[in-house]
Amino acid sequence: KYYTETYRPQFHFTPESNWMNDPNGMVYFEGEYHLFYQYHPYDTIWGPMHWGHAVSKDLIHWEHLPIALSPDENGAIFSGSAVVDWNDSTGFFNGGSGLVAIFTHADQYSNSERPRQRQSLAYSNDKGRTWNMYKGNPILSDISITDFRDPKVFWHENTKMWVMILAAGNHVRIYTSHDLKTWNFASEFGSDTGSQAGVWECPDLFELPVDGKNENKKWVMIVSIGNDAAYAEGSRTQYFIGDFDGSTFTNENSKETVHWLDFGRDNYAGVTWSDVPAEDGRRLFIGWMSNWKYANETPTKVWRSAMTLPRELNLVTTIDGVRISQTPITELETLRKENTKFENILINENVANVLSNIKGKAFELRAEFELETASVFGFKVRMSNDEKTIIGYNVTEKKLFIDRQNSGETSFNPFFACKHEAILEPKNNRIKMQIFVDWSSVEVFANNGELVMTDLIFPDCNSQGLELFAVDGNVHLTSLDFYDLKSCWC
Ligand code: FRU
Repeated sequence: KYYTETYRPQFHFTPESNWMNDPNGMVYFEGEYHLFYQYHPYDTIWGPMHWGHAVSKDLIHWEHLPIALSPDENGAIFSGSAVVDWNDSTGFFNGGSGLVAIFTHADQYSNSERPRQRQSLAYSNDKGRTWNMYKGNPILSDISITDFRDPKVFWHENTKMWVMILAAGNHVRIYTSHDLKTWNFASEFGSDTGSQAGVWECPDLFELPVDGKNENKKWVMIVSIGNDAAYAEGSRTQYFIGDFDGSTFTNENSKETVHWLDFGRDNYAGVTWSDVPAEDGRRLFIGWMSNWKYANETPTKVWRSAMTLPRELNLVTTIDGVRISQTPITELETLRKENTKFENILINENVANVLSNIKGKAFELRAEFELETASVFGFKVRMSNDEKTIIGYNVTEKKLFIDRQNSGETSFNPFFACKHEAILEPKNNRIKMQIFVDWSSVEVFANNGELVMTDLIFPDCNSQGLELFAVDGNVHLTSLDFYDLKSCWC
């Protein structure tokens, strides 16, 4: 089926209709990547949460499947994870293997408006097509804490234990188990650490090699921080780098250090795929491409919200220390149509726009610039006489920015129209940008994904112009590739 409604993303995951938020339960099993998601099947705003479901062989082309989990006597189905129980540690699979989902059941306390958030299990014997609620639900609760949710479970090989990390107000808690049913408290982390601008949600914990070297691995903890009214940025995701011994996470940075995963406004509640085969070895991530500040108000009609592009996470050494890099998965190259190439061009205010013959609504740009005298340079995309989204680099301030103030429809919420920026050090006096523009989003991966900005935009469908610009002098465009991209839905 081909989706062509106004603003409908062409190469990002969206539900066919109605409301979606967090990605959930991502797991690879028997040739399929599963993506579940927070879903309200009857409306385009947040409501009683279900788990929607889709599968893909390449993380690009998705097949929508029926709803996997629906609210029951224990409450609505909030965020969580899924794993392959390879050795039937649960006893759900008659000695075989199958999928187990670990998620939050959210209901109301009797006689109280306070939600009660408890963790539960469901399992599937048929590659995720149908699910059984575990009779012993809930399996983990601590009702003294209101915000106690979003369990992410993984197998810890050294201790031969299942590990669960979950959000508990202003920190995370770690539990361990032999059978996914009985969980023992191991440790907590973070109550005075990192960003406390909102309640902690949707944690993840995994190990990655630094600069691709398996002899130097570090653990990464991802934590999304909820939308606090006082915090202008809204929903954002931070991460910590350190060590994990099977029960305790040790942060290698100071308590005050905050690392942001993304410097745009629209990458939230993202976590990584479980059980990606060892011969693949990638740590694959997807986020919800929205922000609680305005998520319920974005100007789409049939459906609401998309996921970010799937990304590969790595750890890289930068001049500021070890950081996460995010790169779009290489499978995206299969969507490329014709390529238009530019090389070795000096850009300044007196040179005509080199992209004047190109139009695009869904495309990829790969560019490399050598810095010269220009103080600012970059691209204008989804451009018409009165609309443009600017993706640029301020050479003087060493800042990458996206300006969506005049990007199109912005009036639905006062927080939406904005420009944001982040420090980006040039490498050998060069700046690289890989940019994906879809019918309602922009994703910028700068310097091989060391800095990423993900933003929604809602331009008119006729705003299809592109411009390459430089202000106050020259920038040297060493190379630029423009690729029109196919839809993933045909
Ligand atoms: C994050 C979140 C989760 C929760 C879910 C409810 O966006 O608030 O913490 O499980 O959304 O839909």
